[in-house]
Amino acid sequence: MSDSVKITVRPNGSLRVEGPIVLCDAEGREWDLAGKSTISLCRCGHSANRPFCDGTHKQVGFQCAASPVPPPEASVPPPSAS
Ligand code: FES
Repeated sequence: MSDSVKITVRPNGSLRVEGPIVLCDAEGREWDLAGKSTISLCRCGHSANRPFCDGTHKQVGFQCAASPVPPPEASVPPPSAS
């Protein structure tokens, strides 16, 4: 198993997290993941089992892009006035 964590942003859905995962709340208390190395975290805010995805995003029609925003096009300097 790799030591790195991979997070996949799913189109209109959850964040799939794969790797050596430790999931904690703001006070540092850990969720018992029962040895799972793959989990899906809710990003729509509608799961009844947050922070985990329970599939509700489909029912509520959650829409959100899942690809990086392309970089702005390189600016082209104006032609010189000579
Ligand atoms: S992303 Fe799946 S329930 Fe929120």
